[in-house]
Amino acid sequence: MPGAPTMGSENRTAHPDTDWNTRPSSSSTHITVGMHSTPEEDLYAEAEAMQATMREALHQPKRKATPTATSNPTSPSTSPSRRAARNGVLHPSSSTTTTAAAAADKPQTSATHINGSDPPDTDHQSTTSPSEQQATPCSFDSDTSKYPASMTSSVRDHVYEGGLRYHAYRAGKYAFPNDEVEQNRDDMKHTMTLMLCHGAYFYAPVEDVLEEGAEVLDLGTGTGIWAMELGDRYPNTTITGIDLSPIQPNFVPENVHFFVDDFEEEWVDPENKYDYIHIRHTLHSVRDPKLLLERALRHLKPGGYFECAELLYSPQCDDDTLTPSTPYALRDWMNYVGAGMRVLGSDPHAILPLPEQMKAAGFADVQRTTHKCPVGVWPRDKRLRFCGLFLRTALMDGLRGTSRRPLLALGWTQLQIEMFLVDVRKALMDAGVHSYLALHVVHGRKPVS
Ligand SMILES: C[S@@+](CC[C@H](N)C(=O)[O-])C[C@H]1O[C@@H](n2cnc3c(N)ncnc32)[C@H](O)[C@@H]1O
Repeated sequence: MPGAPTMGSENRTAHPDTDWNTRPSSSSTHITVGMHSTPEEDLYAEAEAMQATMREALHQPKRKATPTATSNPTSPSTSPSRRAARNGVLHPSSSTTTTAAAAADKPQTSATHINGSDPPDTDHQSTTSPSEQQATPCSFDSDTSKYPASMTSSVRDHVYEGGLRYHAYRAGKYAFPNDEVEQNRDDMKHTMTLMLCHGAYFYAPVEDVLEEGAEVLDLGTGTGIWAMELGDRYPNTTITGIDLSPIQPNFVPENVHFFVDDFEEEWVDPENKYDYIHIRHTLHSVRDPKLLLERALRHLKPGGYFECAELLYSPQCDDDTLTPSTPYALRDWMNYVGAGMRVLGSDPHAILPLPEQMKAAGFADVQRTTHKCPVGVWPRDKRLRFCGLFLRTALMDGLRGTSRRPLLALGWTQLQIEMFLVDVRKALMDAGVHSYLALHVVHGRKPVS
């Protein structure tokens, strides 16, 4: 994108992906997992196994999991990633199912529970100095005034446009759909992000407090997959997920609670409540990041952490397969969609100024970590190929949904969009271009005094 910075000296790439080499096409080795599996299906299967290994190594389950349903049985998953997530490969089984009684015991209350399902020690760069399922309310609290948005059935409605389904509560606020395709994409990005971060669910030093029992808030929780997996790992911790869309499963760990709400509105929770506030793949749609930071600071306990993980949608390249003058429809697409998002009111590159904004808001120990996520399966390193496959699939599957509102906002017609996407699809599949997107993870601490 014009003006989009490349990863500069301020940022250090975590876990310098040492085998950042092109995969020779002739040396494509893969394990056959089925008579008719394709190399890419095999990659998915291997990715799931690798994911499980990473999870074991980094986040040993803190309690014995029991095989309990974690998804709405009426809404079977279809894509490899979503299937994997819901089968427990990426999303381990919950040990408990939320019940109205259990939830009513929770201090934090409310109207709607809409469902009812070590970080690396190095490589952080301090910047301090330089389903389709209708979400069924499964538990209610007597104090329904706390989450007024969740009180009416209308929050479970959806809006349809051009064959795509969008959230109805605060309709139009979020530019992207919330249908099954989008949920699959969210789960793919979840897998990709975990693999890119070597299995870490967070980089802020909150492991001990999560072990002991903490209050966690997940802003823009989406399908809730991160929140639920965190809940499984830290049973003493309570995780609250907020989203405009009621797209979370009906069965969740008992320490995880989801609410339909707009986190850009005033928060109903008390100040100084949270030990850790997390937002992932969502900052691009925040209208006022500075206000969000001020709010997060107020609602964090002294010593608590805020963390934001976000892809920078601007293709980068470390060799000459993509230069500024190389025609690359994927880069054009990101530029145009970014421009459309600005018209709609948010900054798709909001992650770049975030560390400075956090410091200005009063956060201490602000650190940024970046990882390179390949677009496609061109690297030699298997983990990166997995990441690249998930990212490419998520981008490909989301082209229609993520293009529509931003490009219409630029005045394009539906036909123009469809014609343009033909070239974008070709660019996405072009293994001769070694492009990647940078994942930025930024965290900071609320000072004690
Ligand atoms: C790309 S998804 C990311 C989901 C999840 N954080 C993850 O990483 O898997 C972004 C989510 O943010 C939600 N969202 C965007 N703006 C929001 C707002 N102001 N209030 C609540 N949710 C919001 C959207 O509805 C969407 O589900």
